[in-house]
Parts: sequence; structure tokens; C-alpha cells
Amino acid sequence: MNAPLVDRFGRVADDLRVSLTDRCNFRCTYCMPAEGLAWLPRSELLTYEEIERLVGVFLDLGVRTVRLTGGEPLLRRGVEPLVSLLAARGVPDLSMTTNGLLLAEKAEALAAAGLRRINVSVDSLLRHRFAEMTRRDALERVLDGLRAAERAGLAPIKLNCVVVRGTNEDEVVDFARFARATGYQVRFIEFMPLDAEEGWSRDRVVPSEEVLAAIDRVHPLVPVDHGPEPARVFRFADGAPGGVGVIASVSEPFCGDCNRIRITADGQFRTCLFALEETDLRRLLRAGADDDQIAAAVRDAVARKWAGHRINEADFVRPARSMSMIGG
Ligand code: 5AD
Ligand code: SF4
Repeated sequence: MNAPLVDRFGRVADDLRVSLTDRCNFRCTYCMPAEGLAWLPRSELLTYEEIERLVGVFLDLGVRTVRLTGGEPLLRRGVEPLVSLLAARGVPDLSMTTNGLLLAEKAEALAAAGLRRINVSVDSLLRHRFAEMTRRDALERVLDGLRAAERAGLAPIKLNCVVVRGTNEDEVVDFARFARATGYQVRFIEFMPLDAEEGWSRDRVVPSEEVLAAIDRVHPLVPVDHGPEPARVFRFADGAPGGVGVIASVSEPFCGDCNRIRITADGQFRTCLFALEETDLRRLLRAGADDDQIAAAVRDAVARKWAGHRINEADFVRPARSMSMIGG
């Protein structure tokens, strides 16, 4: 194996997110406009062979976790065979982030292909509000998907809930109750300035501290030691199953411990969600570069990784691409 990917601040990049498509069958208001975005032409997407090859290079560079994302990754045709290919490559921790709309049909095949665990975006447990936030009336189908994932043995099941002021912050205790009833882990994510419609503003961010305090008043929480994940994770003091966590990207940036790197659906390597620079791995692949040349390009890009996003600084610049084009 090559030396691990270390940047000039000593951070080790070992958690890779691979976006399979920029398309989505939801239109979450904090991500995409109702009419969608200009989708990438198919020829610009990495093929499964290209993804498999890149993942091989990253494994060699010490990557341990590979998470498949989108857009909505289950919209990409034949995703199960890709999961098999990656599982056969020996990815130590292979997971997926999905909106869950197609999960009821696909959970079993995904688990059989070697997927271990799954994160599902659920922003409301109320049908009408869910429909408002995602612009799709699909809560029941997503809940069916969660049950199918459970039956298929995907574990742990994690829910991602983006908390937006004035929209769903009154549900955080209900989500905690849902976690206790199901054994799921709920992660509350602060709203970040990555929405295509640029509707983000600081007063719509609900600080994670506020979320935790609201839950702790009803269901006391105990912090759990959890390794280098950017989430802060808690279990319930009374021993109930499930748990909650917070991803305080805006109010308490965790850039100093960031171990994440990303490949967009069109093969651009990014060292930060908010990076303003991308490295074109697709061009290298298609120009016939060998694995060492690709590894060298990745190593260079990681070496240039910045200290962190500057959301809280006056000079913050939004990246040109929004969340669904980068890959959560
Ligand atoms: N801020 C925070 N989280 C977001 N996501 C999408 N857009 C945003 C945003 N602007 C979340 C999705 C998904 C995860 C990959 O990223 O809800 O759960
Ligand atoms: Fe689709 Fe995820 Fe964006 Fe929602 S947040 S529109 S599910 S890509």
C-alpha cells in the first residue's frame, strides 16, 4: 500500500464519498429548485468500470470508508452490480446515502450485493411537511424503505434530518422518540449554504446545541465516543435503543478533524464540500493515465486541501456547484 493521504495540517483523508449521479427524484427545498437542474449528459458520468478503478486507487491510498451518494444514487441503473464490484474489492466500510424513495424495492438486493449500512434522508415525520420539504408526497414510501432496509439486515440504519428554522425544528423531539422506538440513529444536520436556489441565510440555521438541549430536556442524552466522524453522537441515558447525533457544520465547524474527500458524478475530485477547486480525474482516466499518475494527482490535491470552509467569515464564497451536483 502507498503512504496514506495526509494534508499539510496532518489530517488523514480516509473517507471517500462517490456520487453516482447528479439526478434526483426529490426536489428538497434546501437543495434543488422545483424544476430540477441541468443534468449532466451521460457521457460525462464516470462509468462503473471507471468508478471501480478509482476506488481501487483510493483503497491503495488508505481509504477505509466508501459512501455512495448522489443526487439520488438509486436512480443510477444497475447500482447493485457496482456495489458487488466494490464489495469484492474489499472496501472495509461500504455504505450509501439515499432519499429512500426506491429503497423498499432495492434494499434486499443491495444487502445481498454487499452493502453494509445505509443513511436515509428524512426531514419530517409529518406527511404534509415531508411533502413540502421534498416536494414529493412520499413519506410512507420512505418509511416502507426503512423497514425493508431493516429486514435486509442493513445496520445501523441512520436518518439524516436537515433542520431548517421555521420549518421542522419543532420535530426534533419527535425524531428522538422515533429513534427510541425503532433503534435508528438520527443525525440532525445544520442547513448549509449549498442550496441551488441560494435561499440559505444564517437565521435559518438551527444550531445543533439547541437541538440537543431540546431533546435532552425530554430524553436525557449521554455522549458516545465515536472516532473521527464529524457527527457528535449520543445515546439515551435510560438505555432505550437508537440514538441521536448532530452535524454542526455551520455553528461548530469540524474542519480541523475532517477526513473526507469526494468524487463527483462527473469524475471531479474535491477535498471539501465547499472547495472552489476540483481535480479532473475523468480526464486523466480517459487520457490513459496509469494508477500511479492518478494517485499522484490525488495526493497533490489533498496536499493543497485548505484549513476549512469559511462560512462564518466575511470572505466566504459559495462553491459554483450545489449539493446534489457535489454529492452529500
Ligand atoms: N444543507 C445541509 N444538508 C444538506 N443536504 C442536502 N442539501 C443540504 C444543505 N443545503 C443533505 C441531504 C442528505 C445529505 C447527503 O445532505 O439531506 O441527507
Ligand atoms: Fe435529492 Fe438529496 Fe437534493 Fe433532496 S437533498 S433533492 S434527496 S439530492
